[in-house]
Amino acid sequence: MATSTGIQLTSRPNGWPDPSDFRTVRTELPALQAGEVRVANEFISVDPYMRGRMNDAKSYVPPFELGETMEGGAVGRVTESTSDELSAGDLVLHSFGWRDVAQGPAGKFRKVEPVEGLPSSVYLSALGMTGLTAYAGLTRIAGMQENDVVFVSGAAGAVGSTAGQMARLLGAKQVIGSAGSAEKVSLLTGKYGFTDAFNYKDAPVREQLPAAAPDGIDVYFDNVGGDHLEAAIDVFNTHGRAALCGAISQYNETEKSPGPDNMFQLVGKNLTLRGFIVRWHEDLQPEFVERMSGWLRSGDVVFEETVVDGIDNSVQAFLDMMAGANTGKMVVKI
Ligand SMILES: NC(=O)c1ccc[n+]([C@@H]2O[C@H](COP(=O)([O-])OP(=O)(O)OC[C@H]3O[C@@H](n4cnc5c(N)ncnc54)[C@H](OP(=O)(O)O)[C@@H]3O)[C@@H](O)[C@H]2O)c1
Repeated sequence: MATSTGIQLTSRPNGWPDPSDFRTVRTELPALQAGEVRVANEFISVDPYMRGRMNDAKSYVPPFELGETMEGGAVGRVTESTSDELSAGDLVLHSFGWRDVAQGPAGKFRKVEPVEGLPSSVYLSALGMTGLTAYAGLTRIAGMQENDVVFVSGAAGAVGSTAGQMARLLGAKQVIGSAGSAEKVSLLTGKYGFTDAFNYKDAPVREQLPAAAPDGIDVYFDNVGGDHLEAAIDVFNTHGRAALCGAISQYNETEKSPGPDNMFQLVGKNLTLRGFIVRWHEDLQPEFVERMSGWLRSGDVVFEETVVDGIDNSVQAFLDMMAGANTGKMVVKI
């Protein structure tokens, strides 16, 4: 009898989640029905948006059910199939993460081709949801143009590190990044090719950003919200554009945080601040995959991940990612 080990949410966190809000459960899997596949996951994704799914609140994705194995991005190999669409050995991308073995109708699994020289986790990071988020946010939402000055927050993370590298490749005049440690700041200007970077923990962003951007900024890729968004509004040039991708500084807050105190500048500077969710921009996928595959092959985009071993460590991996222990995409190797 095949089994699957999965992680369940058992209580809804208030503020920072605690490992006691989760439990690991081993279940026996039923025999495959016609048209189903069984998949051994190779990597599962832990992402900031999952924090929102731990709340019992209406959002663009439903909350995780208490006592059910959580879902999330995963990539794995088909081990058994009763479907004509997929065969044993196929690499598939799907949303039955937070478990080592997944099973279900073949239609819920998308076959992807292994990329020579790269681990399959690339489909959770640079060539996956986080890469597409960076691309859609920069090109479609912020309408980045050559010679723009671009500021990216959360810049050493999965989306941010990709957005910053893409901004450089798309002809930005200056790419400024913020991150939460000196090591990450060195990575930004060294490995990822940002022109300037600062540690947001060293001094207020409102002091550090103007110093890094003497000519102002044209595009802001916002992963953080709060103090970062406020500082960006201060230094925006006329017709500046922000892609509001996330606000991770607020995901574990128990009180509502004050909004930017300078929203009136949106009027005088003709600014556009536009939110987006990547799932509404999946039509960009073919164009994105073509460009990103080329950049990965040429080495123009550096592919970085923080890999944690074992399903039993997935909750800790999620908590560590929320606290900034990762550079690039945090994934769990099964
Ligand atoms: N709109 C969409 O469709 C979409 C899709 C994917 C992701 N997102 C959003 O994009 C953002 C980045 O996601 P990701 O998957 O790439 O995660 P990530 O950046 O790889 O990991 C999260 C990072 O957030 C930083 N962080 C945590 N608390 C912070 C705070 N108070 N202030 C500033 N930085 C903080 C940490 O880095 P430091 O060490 O630098 O603090 C941590 O490494 C998140 O806001 C996420 O919700 C949106």
